[in-house]
Amino acid sequence: MGAGGKPSVLFVCLGNICRSPTAEGVFLAKLRVAGLEDAVRVDSAGTGSWHVGERADARARAEAERRGLELPSVSRQVTAEDFDAFDLLLAMDGRNRRDLVALARTDEARNKVKLFRSYDPTAEPGAEVPDPYYGGDEGFAEVFDMCERASDGLLEALREAQLP
Ligand code: 4NP
Repeated sequence: MGAGGKPSVLFVCLGNICRSPTAEGVFLAKLRVAGLEDAVRVDSAGTGSWHVGERADARARAEAERRGLELPSVSRQVTAEDFDAFDLLLAMDGRNRRDLVALARTDEARNKVKLFRSYDPTAEPGAEVPDPYYGGDEGFAEVFDMCERASDGLLEALREAQLP
């Protein structure tokens, strides 16, 4: 259980402007529908610092609007302290996972790092959320679909583990 007594999840990608803000917005919407908005602490961050202070990519926000969602994130870089502040650090791809593991200072911290799509019931082991940054709009829609499925699985796992 995280600081403040409730479970806490940090979504992590490279830039914190495409995938992890999408994961955060989709998961927050799932929590809201389930009436669990105040029961789980959710944030997102990037392993890189290029986009710090920026809102989510306009293409991600446009797709969010089409789906009736909001992406509240403002980009920040992940820190070693995040391993104390969060129960789970969910990486979008293998590179993010490796970078997080390298930043972790203890085995306990390393054990908090997982691939987000490990909660997607349709995904193969090791499946990633691919980086849509250099591609077209369809890549963003695909990221949202993956985040929907993985968020459903994550919510179920949290309910089973910790929530009423
Ligand atoms: P994200 O996408 O990791 O899903 O936020 C990217 C955004 C920006 C860059 C790379 C990936 N970039 O190199 O600036």
